[in-house]
Amino acid sequence: MATIIYQSNTGSSKKYAEMLSEKLSLPVYSLSQAESVNPDEEIIFFGWVMAGDIQGLSQLRQKFSNIKCICAVGITTNEKNSAEVKEKNSVTEPFFALPGDFHIDKLKGMYKMMMSMMIKMLKSKLKEKPAAESEKIMTIFENGVDQVSEDKLDGVIEFLG
Ligand SMILES: Cc1cc2nc3c(=O)[nH]c(=O)nc-3n(C[C@H](O)[C@H](O)[C@H](O)COP(=O)(O)O)c2cc1C
Repeated sequence: MATIIYQSNTGSSKKYAEMLSEKLSLPVYSLSQAESVNPDEEIIFFGWVMAGDIQGLSQLRQKFSNIKCICAVGITTNEKNSAEVKEKNSVTEPFFALPGDFHIDKLKGMYKMMMSMMIKMLKSKLKEKPAAESEKIMTIFENGVDQVSEDKLDGVIEFLG
C-alpha cells in the first residue's frame, strides 16, 4: 500500500492528493506532516511548480527513496513544458504533469512579488514580440484559472492500477 504526500501553496496539489486518497483509499499527508511516515514506504508525490522547480521534491528525496511516481502541478502542462520540468528536477520516476489553479489574489508575500515581476517581464516581452502561447499565459495570470478536476487524475490512476 502506498502513501500520498503533497506540497501545496494555494491548494491545487492538496486537492489532487486528497481526491486520489479518496478514490484509492490511500493515506494522505502534507510534506510537513509526513514525519510519522515510514521512510521505506512507497510514496506518490504531488508538488506545485515554481519557476520550473517542483516544490518539496528535494526534501521528500532526503527521507524517502521508494518513490512510485511524481506529479507536478503547474499552470502549463504542455509537452514541452512538462519535459522541461521533468529534466530540471532530475525526475527518473514515472512522471505526470497536472494542470493546477491560479489566482493572483490567493498569493501572499514573496510569491506574490515574484509573480508580479514575472507578469511585468512578460508584458514588456509581449510588446516587443507578440506570441500566441505567451498571450495565453498572460490571460491566465491576469484573470486566473481553475483547472483542477478529478478526470485529470485518470492517467495516474491507470498507472497505479
Ligand atoms: C511564483 C510562482 C511561480 C510559478 N512558476 C510556475 C512555473 O514555472 N510553471 C508552471 O507551470 N506554473 C508555475 N506557477 C503556477 C503554479 O504552479 C500553479 O498556480 C499551481 O496550481 C499551484 O499549485 P498549488 O495550488 O498546489 O500551490 C507559478 C506560481 C507562482 C506563484
